[in-house]
Amino acid sequence: MTALPPQVMIRMKRDGERLPHAAIRAFIAGVTDGTIPDYQAAAMLMAIFFRGLDAEELTAWADAMLHSGDVLDLSSIARAKIDKHSTGGVGDKISLPLAPAVAACGVAVPMVSGRGLGHTGGTLDKLESIPGFRVDLSVDDFRAQVDRVGACLIGQTDRIAPADRKLYALRDVTATVESIPLIASSIMSKKLAEGIDGLVLDVKVGRGAFMKDAARARELARTMLAIGRGAGKRVTAVLTDMDQPIGRAVGHSVEVEETIDVLRGGGPPDTRELTIALGAEMLHLAGIDAGRERIAQALDDGRALAKFRDIVVAQGGDPRVCDDPRAVLPFGDEVALGPHRPGVITGIDAEKIGMGVLVLGGGRRRKEDRVDHGVGFVLLKKVGDRVGPGERIGTIYCRAPGPPPAAISLLATAFEIGDEPPAPEPLIHEVIRA
Ligand code: URA
Repeated sequence: MTALPPQVMIRMKRDGERLPHAAIRAFIAGVTDGTIPDYQAAAMLMAIFFRGLDAEELTAWADAMLHSGDVLDLSSIARAKIDKHSTGGVGDKISLPLAPAVAACGVAVPMVSGRGLGHTGGTLDKLESIPGFRVDLSVDDFRAQVDRVGACLIGQTDRIAPADRKLYALRDVTATVESIPLIASSIMSKKLAEGIDGLVLDVKVGRGAFMKDAARARELARTMLAIGRGAGKRVTAVLTDMDQPIGRAVGHSVEVEETIDVLRGGGPPDTRELTIALGAEMLHLAGIDAGRERIAQALDDGRALAKFRDIVVAQGGDPRVCDDPRAVLPFGDEVALGPHRPGVITGIDAEKIGMGVLVLGGGRRRKEDRVDHGVGFVLLKKVGDRVGPGERIGTIYCRAPGPPPAAISLLATAFEIGDEPPAPEPLIHEVIRA
């Protein structure tokens, strides 16, 4: 079938007709090479926003986005190649301990990560708080490091899924981001371009997440699983809680410091548990059983930390971060944050904490903004903890002349304080295996 004119395709989708596979391929090719102008691409996005894509259209749309650029060939690496992707959260530093822990268990981890935007943090920004750490390796260096060290963490190149780059920018300014088929195809096209055998998706649910309720998170997970299945990949989705921040640290240096604690066998229980649970699913996709025990062992016996050191050295970073993070990482001035009343912490609004750190200078409002790696927030109390008069609920890391009032207000009001502890929420809601 030859390509249909864009306005014909837009009308078909607007009226609820199915788009033919070849026409979808031609449309995405036209978006990528610029022959389809932004106004027609935007009209199509809005039509998809309202009408959705059925299973066949979705597979074709995601496949066309995936092949709009380079698909990395990692077939020269004999071991199973498994990655993890999180839909984004607050204090979500899990990739940092996870990649070395999984690599220490014999699985190759090629990880192409993103930067933070809005209230959520990004893995690349956290890694760049380590002096010298480079995330802009060439594809050849990336492949060589995954083979030699077992894991490599880099940023997306211009050549990976360029159609998504264009469509995402358009969605951002045309109110078409919150569409499950568009989110799923955007994420999966980038991940499948990494040349992986399998993928674990950490789909965040809660007020700090994109998907605020479990039903929509489940639908997103199932949609991504369907795309993975269509591409012949092994994919597992884990729905995890994002009501309160993960662990205690939110920011860049502070999250690397927490990572080192986890890699030493310690760290906050939820950060460790997520590392173990997601790591076990990655090992399972690689055909390795008893994953929980293996990952826990690698964290406890120093192999995961040794692997992290190898990654840091291979990517030009200062390995002393593994021994004494405070000696190497930038940290701002410490300011204590107290509670607005004594009592029991009944909730912590993760989005407000993320916004508070953004206002301190640790986040981006626009893609081109620079982040300050030395600012952040460390929660000393989490949901269910008691806070007495004169006690701290957290430590702010900030620059002179001190935290802006807007940051203090966001961080302080994020803590909801009552008299009775709330019923505990599970950290892991559901595991969906293909
Ligand atoms: N992350 C992505 O990469 N794409 C989306 O559409 C949403 C989140």
